[in-house]
Amino acid sequence: MGGSGDVRGRVLRGTFFHAPSPDGFECCADAMLVIDAAGAIADVLRAGSGEHAALAADESGQVMRLPEGSVMLPGFVDCHVHAPQFPQLGLALDVPLETWLMRYTFPLEARYADLDFAARAYGQLVDDLLAGGTTTALYFATVHVPATRLLADLCIKKGQRALIGKVAMDLDTCPDFYRDADADEAVAGTRAIIDHIRAHAGNSEGRVLPVVTPRFIPACTDEALEGLGQLAAETGAHVQTHCSESDWAHGYVRERHGMSDAESLDRFGLVGRRSIVAHANFLSGSDMDLLVQRGAGVAHCAHSNAYFANAVFPLRRALEKGLHVGLGTDISGGPSASMLDAQRMTVAASRMLEDGVDAGLPAGERGCRDSRVDMVTAFHLATAGGAEALDLPVGSFEIGRKFDAIAIDTEAAEGTIRLFDGSAPSDVLAGVLYQASRANIAHVWVDGRLVRSHRDAAP
Ligand code: GUN
Ligand code: FE
Repeated sequence: MGGSGDVRGRVLRGTFFHAPSPDGFECCADAMLVIDAAGAIADVLRAGSGEHAALAADESGQVMRLPEGSVMLPGFVDCHVHAPQFPQLGLALDVPLETWLMRYTFPLEARYADLDFAARAYGQLVDDLLAGGTTTALYFATVHVPATRLLADLCIKKGQRALIGKVAMDLDTCPDFYRDADADEAVAGTRAIIDHIRAHAGNSEGRVLPVVTPRFIPACTDEALEGLGQLAAETGAHVQTHCSESDWAHGYVRERHGMSDAESLDRFGLVGRRSIVAHANFLSGSDMDLLVQRGAGVAHCAHSNAYFANAVFPLRRALEKGLHVGLGTDISGGPSASMLDAQRMTVAASRMLEDGVDAGLPAGERGCRDSRVDMVTAFHLATAGGAEALDLPVGSFEIGRKFDAIAIDTEAAEGTIRLFDGSAPSDVLAGVLYQASRANIAHVWVDGRLVRSHRDAAP
């Protein structure tokens, strides 16, 4: 691929797959994607059209062609990442959530008071996620305002689309060494991050957005939850939190507030169109209806739900109700930073939830009827579904969307993807999604800017 690899104001020619809706994908072979100067898709020219033929004859150099054996996918949207937990990926996933938080996670997050430590760890994280094809990430940072500013600055510098929140946690059940001193500090720190990100000179295109981030109800006073709800209403910022993750967290809110955590968050003004609740395993039918009514979204974290909740989020039921759903790695409650792994686990978990009626078992004896989803649905959720949940114009190759994309090299020396000769497009997509590894992710673009190339890929 010639030039710097940036495609703003140029045309990118190649084969792409996308899944704008949960139950179908489109393969467009040898398409021409016309990208405008701001990195948005201005036109999609399909092979066989007159405009396609005219551009194919263009020799001005504005058309960049992906090599044979490459396919483009929309960049992945990770709807739940704890940025500071990257250094403990895979650690202590066999203890209960509350033990894991107190013994491992809060002490690690407390280290981000040290900005040198934060710069190293956050730099590695953003590089790693971009290399894995995560073009958008919804990040929980830590309680610290300076380190959260640093994470925002890094995302702006490295070109990742990111939504970032200072974690608010002021309840005295959190350790003294790691919490906000009081509700005022939790709210003022959140406001400081909103102001920093919105006023940042390098962020005029708004690629990085601020997020109001109460950790979860068991970590916050009512005063902080109330202040954060008001701040979200005043600023229009996104909101993220954990909701109905484990029996323990879910039961705690019932004890304290006499209602479900979804209802309680709503009462504080924390459930709206730009709210994302992580996990949501134990939502009741009416909780789900409430989220649908508000237009809120769920970050489905299939890996960490298995480790910390012994549960499977009822994904199919949620989609049938019209709930917005995206996928989350939940670094480091989930042991993998890869959104390819998140898609694979989403399919596997849904199969484990399925009942045994087709095999002759009585209904209700095991599992739930009609739970399974396929890889196309998982791919949709990892791209267009996550984008919809976050209310962002990315996730598919449709006119008007921003060009956030990855190029997969199926013939990479370190990881050739085995495809049957003459494979149907659905088999190619399945082969790519199930077999691809980091080695196959040749190029990554955000807003039409090349933000990452694999060291072996042609420049
Ligand atoms: N609940 C509150 N904090 C956390 C966290 O860091 N990870 C997970 N998985 N659940 C949480
Ligand atoms: Fe989490």
